[in-house]
Amino acid sequence: MRDAEPSAIYLKDYQVPSHLIDKTHLHFILHPTKTRVSSDLTIRKNPDADTKSNELILHGQDIDLQSVSIDGRQLDDRDYQLEAECLRIANVPEQFVLSVVGLIAPADNTSLEGLYKSQSMYCTQCEAEGFRKITYFLDRPDVLSEFTTTVVADKTEFPVLLSNGNPIKSGSLDDNMHFVTWHDPFPKPAYLFALVGGDLECIQDSFTTTSGRAIDLKIYVEEKDLDKCDHAMASLKSSMRWDEDVYGREYDLDIFMIVAVDDFNMGAMENKGLNIFNTSCVLAKAETTTDAGFQRVEAVVAHEYFHNWSGNRVTCRDWFQLSLKEGFTVFRDAEFSADMGSRTVKRVEDAKLLRAMQFAEDAGPLAHPVQPASFIEISNFYTLTVYEKGAEVVRMIHTLLGAEAFRQGSDLYFERNDGKAATIEDFVSSMEEAGGRDLSKFMSWYHQAGTPKLAVTADYNSSSREYALTFNQTCPTTPECDSEDKKPYLIPVAMGLLGSNGPLSLVPETDVDFSLSKNDTHCVLELTQPQHRVVFKDINAPPVPSLMRGFSAPVRLQFDYSPDDLITLMTQDDDGFTRWDACQQLCVSVIHEVEASLQQGKEPSVDSRLSDAARALITNQNLDPAMVALMLTLPSEGYLAEIATTANIDTIHSAREIVRNHLAASLKTEFAERFDSLPYFPEYEANAVQIAVRSLKNCCLGYLVATADAVWLERAMTQYRTATNMTDQSAALSVLALSPDSKAVDYSVSALSEFYQQWQSEALVVNQWFSVQAMQPGEEAVDRIRSLMQHEAFNINNPNKVRALIGAFANNNPVCFHNSDGSGYRLLAEVVKKLNATNPQIAARMLGPLTKWRKYDSKRQELMQAELNSIKQTVGLSKDVFEVISKSLA
Ligand code: ARG
Ligand code: ZN
Repeated sequence: MRDAEPSAIYLKDYQVPSHLIDKTHLHFILHPTKTRVSSDLTIRKNPDADTKSNELILHGQDIDLQSVSIDGRQLDDRDYQLEAECLRIANVPEQFVLSVVGLIAPADNTSLEGLYKSQSMYCTQCEAEGFRKITYFLDRPDVLSEFTTTVVADKTEFPVLLSNGNPIKSGSLDDNMHFVTWHDPFPKPAYLFALVGGDLECIQDSFTTTSGRAIDLKIYVEEKDLDKCDHAMASLKSSMRWDEDVYGREYDLDIFMIVAVDDFNMGAMENKGLNIFNTSCVLAKAETTTDAGFQRVEAVVAHEYFHNWSGNRVTCRDWFQLSLKEGFTVFRDAEFSADMGSRTVKRVEDAKLLRAMQFAEDAGPLAHPVQPASFIEISNFYTLTVYEKGAEVVRMIHTLLGAEAFRQGSDLYFERNDGKAATIEDFVSSMEEAGGRDLSKFMSWYHQAGTPKLAVTADYNSSSREYALTFNQTCPTTPECDSEDKKPYLIPVAMGLLGSNGPLSLVPETDVDFSLSKNDTHCVLELTQPQHRVVFKDINAPPVPSLMRGFSAPVRLQFDYSPDDLITLMTQDDDGFTRWDACQQLCVSVIHEVEASLQQGKEPSVDSRLSDAARALITNQNLDPAMVALMLTLPSEGYLAEIATTANIDTIHSAREIVRNHLAASLKTEFAERFDSLPYFPEYEANAVQIAVRSLKNCCLGYLVATADAVWLERAMTQYRTATNMTDQSAALSVLALSPDSKAVDYSVSALSEFYQQWQSEALVVNQWFSVQAMQPGEEAVDRIRSLMQHEAFNINNPNKVRALIGAFANNNPVCFHNSDGSGYRLLAEVVKKLNATNPQIAARMLGPLTKWRKYDSKRQELMQAELNSIKQTVGLSKDVFEVISKSLA
């Protein structure tokens, strides 16, 4: 047990730093257990700080301090105080150079924060607070410094030595050592510092900016992965062009580097000029990477590149402002992906993720505002709320202002805050100024946790020919705020009305601000009050309202649509998101009916309107195949659990399977015809057309295998064996391995063993192999996971492996994870305890599924709480895990 419980820090307590560090000179001699880090920091008192004290307090952790001097005069240990997490120096001058030498042990650093070793390579991850594990510093984002970094290492083992900015000097030293000195002209906070040393190869390209500057682009990987870099490079160049075209942002350094590392806590990191990426977000090749993998590489490359402006040139004042860079940058990368591929598909995928995962976070014990008011460990706040909901909030500003004013607001924001550490308020005020409007009512989106509910009711008056919609917004109670104390949200509702002959002209009469599209059939209402009534005139018959087009606000919409209304929306609305959503809602209502029958012990029947609608979709050649596939994909068990008050995992699973099997059986011919008529592309490309076709094809295959027809099992196996790309190969593997039918077992066993034989040398493909097995059904699931954890390819210190096996099990195999004997919970708790000691960030993240215990029946609640409590008793509990556990048990 820890002696003192870790305490929270609060946004309201923000104070400017006592000192500034104008220049930072670093010198590294790389060694696995004794890397010598020498720093010379040019420090002065911050003129804006109101403190009279002359004390300097530097952050530092796990550093073996060797010496401290000020202006060349060595201090002895009476001049400073060394604590576990800081170094205090009592009487510092107004201005001075502080020199510190320390030793660190990258090979022992399993937290993957600070300087660590990944395989044979040295690399760093400093965001959020990892720099303090490298050297003593003011490790906070509002202290910006100009960095010069020299790296010394063995020439043979580490021919490549990189850091931020431009290389300015290099040479050989005694004992086969060499050095490279890098200088970054742009002042930056320490969290953007990076260093890499390794035996790496690179692919190179060049990009010429609008103003004619040629930028060197380099992607560094292990030699064996050189053939998997082209997609990342192409994505980088598209991102650079896009940011110039859409945001007027040009790249600023002469060189942009990406380095791929195997062991990485997150996706990637935007270190100035030297982006470090999880291999899973850089490497892509048709044979080893699925379409989704290709899209992820494109999105993450873009995301990190866009951070050069939204994050690096303008950074965050403090970590409560994390969404300032993350929400905005996710919005930017989402728009980029929409422009590169299919806009509607991208929107649907994002809305799906938000509704299944972020809404759950917002409804759980760890709910927090997009701008949190407090935290214990900032690493716990790299969340769906800060990233994805944060992006939705920026998107709403875009909707409210329109594209043109939004761009002016963004220009103003970059111009005003360039080279500075800014706040969310700075961002919004630039938008207010450019848009010529007050956004104060909008701020609830940043300050309040929880997903607002928007309940809408309609009434039609045939004599006045008026159609009225009444909107009621509420927001549930969240950990720190009662429902009644919440301010209303400014909710943009993009909508239209469908009559029997298509979209109706809108003549709204209301106190709500609204904007109408040119042809009058679409409008955006701006709700600001708990209740609003909007009356539409000249309506001849009750229409079907199409609400929240494009998912115009991240709310739970409630409207009592009949199945026929939903079918009208699905087939007639001109908004792709609404069409998809109507189909999902139809599926949900059909699944709910089956659930109800199962609970009442009645023979369930599946509403034939769903199979009719599905038939119409599958046979319609005019629709985007990707949209058809999305619409034919039943809502996930995770989403069905999320929208339930108490999630009955087994009933949800059975009901969903019944509906799925019903669709498979009743549309077998149609699925087969469509499967056979879709083209096969011998030349793989990750473009929207090909991706769409493969997604529909594999969706059909899924249903066809669900019929358990021997012919289709055989055909899936043939596809598995003959596929020339990973998308088709892994889709076939999954449908066979995840089939509950006993006739599939032999196929599944062969495919899984062949897969490992074929791909054992490709770490990222092996991850897929772990994931499929983690999701397999059956009583023996937990034992299977335990034995896979002993497999030669598993490594608990590699976060990708942990996510692939344990993460996939706990998140995507609900029936087995929630086994009422508690064995799934026990397994996860054991893993979390292990990780707590080695990698607290990942430990806290893996804990997620257990924190949602309130969603389940009382027996499971008890079992889940028992595991949480037992983790809480762990000796040496990390701050990360402590925060998640204590909030989830509160
Ligand atoms: N800034 C990075 C990104 O958005 C993620 C940072 C990872 N931070 C962490 N605490 N592991 O892509
Ligand atoms: Zn980011």
